[in-house]
Amino acid sequence: MIQLIVWYATLLFIILLAVVFGWVAFSSKKKQDYAPIIKRWYKARSIYGVLLVVLMLVVTIYTLRELPFNEPSHVEGVEVIPVHVEAFQFGFELNMTEFSVGDTVEFNVTTKDVTHGFGVYDPDMVLVGQTQAMPEYTNTFYLTFDQPGTYQVLCLEYCGLAHHMMMTEMVVK
Ligand code: CUA
Repeated sequence: MIQLIVWYATLLFIILLAVVFGWVAFSSKKKQDYAPIIKRWYKARSIYGVLLVVLMLVVTIYTLRELPFNEPSHVEGVEVIPVHVEAFQFGFELNMTEFSVGDTVEFNVTTKDVTHGFGVYDPDMVLVGQTQAMPEYTNTFYLTFDQPGTYQVLCLEYCGLAHHMMMTEMVVK
């Protein structure tokens, strides 16, 4: 849904930009006194600048107020299954790979060597959760399996020549 909105917004701005460019190219052939026009647009630019700063401030405050995003999130009172994940060049070691539908898993992710990504894809290959696998650091995230099938785990961080082959599976029954 968000992707669709972003796509249409991008398209709209591309068209808008093309129209502005076309208009500038078309009207640049006309000769006229530019002094008042320049004055007017300098003023418009100031207003635009201030508006932009205000808008960006509001957006920044609104989107970043929950930083740092280090709070583990899962529904209180739900029993979680802790799973230890160790990434390495080029694979993943999980101490558990079979789960049941409805299980909430607490993935504790780290790595033996370089930084990797730990991306979990559901049976439809939709990314449902991910975190970084960082050396000497454990990242935690929670995932509730809501459909049965084979979940793929892919590395989402370029980590070497065989990065594209770095994957494993989890089975949910
Ligand atoms: Cu590990 Cu890419």
